[in-house]
Amino acid sequence: MRKRIRFYPSGAEVNEQEIVGTTAAVADVLRATSTIVTALGNGCKAVIPATDIKTALAAVRSFRRQDVLLGGERMGRKIDGFDFGNSPQEYTRERVEDKVIVITTTNGTKALVYAQTAVRTVVLSFLNLTAIADFILQQERDVSVIAAGNDGDDSIEDTVCCGLLIDQLVRRAPGQFQPCQASPRAAQLAVAQQGKIQQLLRQSPHGEYLTSIGYESDLTLCADMDSRSIVPHYSHGRITII
Ligand code: MLT
Repeated sequence: MRKRIRFYPSGAEVNEQEIVGTTAAVADVLRATSTIVTALGNGCKAVIPATDIKTALAAVRSFRRQDVLLGGERMGRKIDGFDFGNSPQEYTRERVEDKVIVITTTNGTKALVYAQTAVRTVVLSFLNLTAIADFILQQERDVSVIAAGNDGDDSIEDTVCCGLLIDQLVRRAPGQFQPCQASPRAAQLAVAQQGKIQQLLRQSPHGEYLTSIGYESDLTLCADMDSRSIVPHYSHGRITII
């Protein structure tokens, strides 16, 4: 039987019951999932996503302070008293290796937490797109491709990242998938943008906003296609590399 691919254009549209039994891939390209992939790629032990600041602070208290770092943003800026903001540039090997990172962001970490009901929930970005496709191709179940979006609306960069994943799955396993719920449209849109990802990020509303507050160089990092061959897997409240 063909495996269904459902695309959710924003985290707010995810039906937690509908994704039960599926493999879910969650993308918040600017910048939460790119940052999480970078931190794990740089040797951090685990990432704990939190929906809000209070939950993040409570999670930090369950560790010895020297073992854990606290990251996150509101309006793109570092939260007062936190160790890091949400820029992938901050999550260097030197700072994150062997640490646990608790992170809360406006949209990305929420979308991840809501996607926890899936059998497998993985973290998607341009950085690890093909690694995620490889992983999903090995799974024998339906797929939920979730764009975190922006405050309940869709965002072009997440849609394109999800669309490229859908396109890879369908092309690499002809006849095995049945794309539904806006999946073909996302894939079509994404293919038209292939090779122009950096430009797409620069011209996206959130990319323009990040540039205006001094994070233009993050856009280059977040566009670094397939630079990290890792599959971050979210299970029992923690994201680790499979
Ligand atoms: C979010 O979760 O909304 C983003 O990652 C915001 C950001 O660019 O830091």
